[in-house]
Amino acid sequence: MSDKIDHVVIVGGGTAGWMAGAYLGKALADTAGVTVLEAPDIPTIGVGEATIPNLQTAFFDFLEIDETEWMRECNASFKMAVRFINWRTEGDSTPEPRRLDGRPDHFYHSFGLLKNHDRLPLSQYWHYDKHHGNTELPFDYACYAEPAALDAKRAPLHLDGSRATNYAWHFDAKLVAAFLRRVSVQRFGVRHIQDRVNHVEVDSRGHITGLRTAAGRTVEGDLFIDCSGFRGLLINKALGEPFIDMRDHLLNDSAIATTIPHDDESNGVEPYTSAIAMKSGWTWKIPMPGRFGSGYVYSSRFAAEDEAVKEFCGLWQLDPDRTPLNRIRFRVGRNRRAWAGNCVSIGTSSCFVEPLESTGIYFIYAALFQLVKHFPDKTFPAALTDRFNREIETMFDDTRDFIQAHFHFAPRADTPFWKANKELTLGPAIQEKVRDYLAGLPVSMPASDDAAHYYGTFEEEFRNFWNNSNYYCVLAGLGLLPERPLPRLSHMTASRSSAGPLFEAIQQRQRYLLDTLPSHHEFLEKLHAGR
Ligand code: FDA
Repeated sequence: MSDKIDHVVIVGGGTAGWMAGAYLGKALADTAGVTVLEAPDIPTIGVGEATIPNLQTAFFDFLEIDETEWMRECNASFKMAVRFINWRTEGDSTPEPRRLDGRPDHFYHSFGLLKNHDRLPLSQYWHYDKHHGNTELPFDYACYAEPAALDAKRAPLHLDGSRATNYAWHFDAKLVAAFLRRVSVQRFGVRHIQDRVNHVEVDSRGHITGLRTAAGRTVEGDLFIDCSGFRGLLINKALGEPFIDMRDHLLNDSAIATTIPHDDESNGVEPYTSAIAMKSGWTWKIPMPGRFGSGYVYSSRFAAEDEAVKEFCGLWQLDPDRTPLNRIRFRVGRNRRAWAGNCVSIGTSSCFVEPLESTGIYFIYAALFQLVKHFPDKTFPAALTDRFNREIETMFDDTRDFIQAHFHFAPRADTPFWKANKELTLGPAIQEKVRDYLAGLPVSMPASDDAAHYYGTFEEEFRNFWNNSNYYCVLAGLGLLPERPLPRLSHMTASRSSAGPLFEAIQQRQRYLLDTLPSHHEFLEKLHAGR
């Protein structure tokens, strides 16, 4: 008898369940059956609207689904950056940046790698100039081509479809799940069962043998994928794998979300996610055609739900009694092991960190990539499962650390929430990175600044996901600068002067993008008109 896996059963029909259905349906083609079982009476989270650029290369390209096809189906728009608003200044919650040192209190976390010059990234030259009073430009406006186009709400592509900058997407998460359901069933032959799992049968080895459902079915399989959401129905409840709570790193555990109509014609469409600092957390603003999604991510330790509702509704001038609000509680952390026995947890059943850097959906397809790479047979070799678990652990903990650094180093300390963030301890890995950063060293440098290579090989990007560009954007954006320039730079006189033209070329590119790119609104109208 062969040890080959013949049947994979996925429990859950949210974003994770249908991404898994499509991805595994394609990866296993005709060699194994794939079933998605979802309870029609248990709702999905249905938020999850901002993404990062490798969604197309690492997920949709694998499925051979063209960007335009899924964008039209999912009411999608473009995202060229995250704009952090009011993370440095103190005061009441407002969507407009306050003033700080004569400039608005916002900074962009842009996508893409910084260019190297004489084996040092441009960030180090910018900081040298800043330290010596030779530049007034903030880091994002000095080192990236996009900020002027972002301010002017331009699209990241020309009207002929040629790409001008890096970008990701905003979309309607419910439409994505519905689109992927159709693709999974129609293109990849995935079986869809609508039924509720009432009981999980587990053998003496701790392997799942079957799922008993409300309608009296028993669904059997060789490999079970838990996409049941925060409840962790298979991995935590049935198999008892512990969930490691990480609220000692990240205080936020709740959100209230809604969608708000928007007049795109009059106001344009912002090509970025906004992250607006609030009294006890932050609010996302995710523009899509005709509306924007928004949600206040807050800590229940520092704001009661009705206080959060009041502050959130005040931000957008909404009537709390007439606005439909999605109230969400989430767990923060990860399973000790994402894969235990013959069960792999993917999505919020596996790990969750608040959506400040839009990583939830990325975690799903990154886990699917790793699962296919380490795909087992029925003997479930420990080398494969252990390696998979280490990859997920590193992926998650690295992101948790990066996100914690946003709160920890934000200068504002005007409320108990912001004060408490300064008192939490950073993990040893991020402490070491910050130590390097403060000493003027680049942090987590990719092997080269060849963006085509870095972004063209998911493996490479996965291994060094948050790199020097990301740390610089956020830490310098928050106003935390190295204590002194890298000492070596004082001896690199020629390199410093030849870096000048590189900075000038960035300014020229900013003007070019501003002059030639269409508005985001115009581009989206054209794209969605083809529906
Ligand atoms: P979800 O809860 O959506 O689905 C669970 C499924 O399991 C449902 O279909 C349910 O029916 C099924 N189920 C449960 N019990 C069952 C049973 N007994 N029998 C059968 N089926 C059962 N990510 C991102 O990339 N960008 C973003 O901007 C955001 N924003 C965001 C904001 C907030 C507030 C949260 C909480 C999360 C995000 N995310 C995000 C994360 C994103 O929402 C998340 O990764 C996806 O929605 C995945 O959700 P799941 O599919 O894991 O669970």
